[in-house]
Amino acid sequence: MRKSQLRLFTAFFVVLSFIFTSLPSAAPVLAAWPEPVRGKHAMVASQHELASKVGVEIMKKGGNAVDAAIAVGLALAVVYPEAGNIGGGGFMLIRTSDGKAHAIDYREMAPAAATRDVYVDSAGNLIRGEGSSTIGYRASGVPGTLAGFEMAYKKYGSKKLTWSQLVEPARLLALNGFSLSERQAVLFYSYRGNLSKYAESNRIFLRSGKYYEEDELFRQPDLAATLGRVERNGAKEFYTGSTARLIADDMKAHGGLITLNDLKNYKAKEREPISGTYRGYKVISMPPPSSGGIVMLEVLNILEGYDIASMGYNSAAKFHVLTEAMRRAFADRAEFMGDPDFSTVPVDTLIDKAYAKKQASTIDLVRASKSTEIGHGDIPGGESMDTTHFTVADASGNVVTNTYTLNDLYGSAVTAKGTGVLLNDEMDDFAARPGKANMFGLIQGEKNSVQPGKRPLSSMTPTIVLRKDGSFWFALGARGGPRIISAVIQSVINVIDHGMNIQAAIDAPRIHHQWFPDEILYEPYGMSPDTMNILKGYGHKFTSSPGYVATATGIMVDDKGVRLGAIDSRSDGKAVGY
Ligand code: GLY
Repeated sequence: MRKSQLRLFTAFFVVLSFIFTSLPSAAPVLAAWPEPVRGKHAMVASQHELASKVGVEIMKKGGNAVDAAIAVGLALAVVYPEAGNIGGGGFMLIRTSDGKAHAIDYREMAPAAATRDVYVDSAGNLIRGEGSSTIGYRASGVPGTLAGFEMAYKKYGSKKLTWSQLVEPARLLALNGFSLSERQAVLFYSYRGNLSKYAESNRIFLRSGKYYEEDELFRQPDLAATLGRVERNGAKEFYTGSTARLIADDMKAHGGLITLNDLKNYKAKEREPISGTYRGYKVISMPPPSSGGIVMLEVLNILEGYDIASMGYNSAAKFHVLTEAMRRAFADRAEFMGDPDFSTVPVDTLIDKAYAKKQASTIDLVRASKSTEIGHGDIPGGESMDTTHFTVADASGNVVTNTYTLNDLYGSAVTAKGTGVLLNDEMDDFAARPGKANMFGLIQGEKNSVQPGKRPLSSMTPTIVLRKDGSFWFALGARGGPRIISAVIQSVINVIDHGMNIQAAIDAPRIHHQWFPDEILYEPYGMSPDTMNILKGYGHKFTSSPGYVATATGIMVDDKGVRLGAIDSRSDGKAVGY
């Protein structure tokens, strides 16, 4: 080799090694996560491939993201019965192609017979088992899913497809059946304790003791018939039709709370979405009765005061300020949040940057606060929990991000006789005894006490983030009770601060702190012992064993307009695009 060639060769390697050593330290780690699913035109990310495919087919037929979301939600009620539902409720956040955001609240509503102490016995103790807010006929709020979906269809659907075209794929899946995954067969079996207590659930999900196995065909003829009536009659079938009568009769026969009148009085509501910014990016989310949007924006506002990117994605410094921010925002959740139709929630103050600065000023960078010392801010004037989230982006720029739930897995475990419809146990999201923990360990205040016609406070956090030019960047949400909020917050900062794509942002290990219990939940392999020791040195406490912090799904649009779909590697499901 001549001398000049040698110099060129050496220079080439110097440049190459400079490029590699100057890459952000996260770069090699990112390669450990799967690539998001790509779709040039449209994308559905849901927790069951069959439901995602239903959504894609609807868009291929000319439907928009709202039409597709409705069809996906109905399909999940069939193929993902642990959380997909028409017997529960939730929140749908829509951004239409004109840049406007719309929030549909179809949260369940307390029946008229549900008063403040309905779940407390004569000795003042929380009722457990039958009669409680977590299982059986008295645990259900009036379901909102069909009312919400119909409102979305009428206001924001494409009008190119009929309502029955959106319901039909779900009806066929229920009628013809689908093949159970190993996880689903095992899940039915693991919930046999609850499901076997109720005749219809025992017959449908446990085959009266002849338990389902992986790959077996699971058919739901009663649910197919209900969906057939909903297809013909619209949502009113569920609220005033024969389905309503079947639900009310079954409730009456078993001492349940929901009456025909409660069903008739249910209304989905359109709310003003809440929004804020994080480092200049607009973040849009759900207002009360979900706490998700407010808690997320309060945490993001506090974190904005710190250089999270330089702290590094899994550093003790970042986990410390994140924990302190979540501790404060969850304390505010307990005190200030509830159904806005029943009490005033100081939304504007809680998501104000100046309020976050005041909150941040109480954070010591090397000492953990104690939750017993952190009250709510000064304002003038629990995981077997289940839920499911899906996100849809169409070819015209409409986006839907939807979280809905039965609360616990399979809800109250009651299937209303003759309907095939599993009912929720959403009444446990109220503070059955204000000031005492619910099944998520969450402490909540008077504003979230049980009252007839009221909606329980939620943690569901369907969220949309825009680029600085105002165009859609990514949308996501999660399942997992209060851990939903932590999962969404950390996914957002993983994208904005750590430069991850949507899949890596959702998959990266995370933590959770909810004020009480005063401990950090960390994930298996999610935190090194030396990081944990630093945090313990600051005074943080940890849960005795690691556990997962929710599961998320989301869609991002890249610079070229390609839709990138992501399903949390912690869960099943599949993003499908075209
Ligand atoms: N049921 C869980 C939530 O609404 O947060």
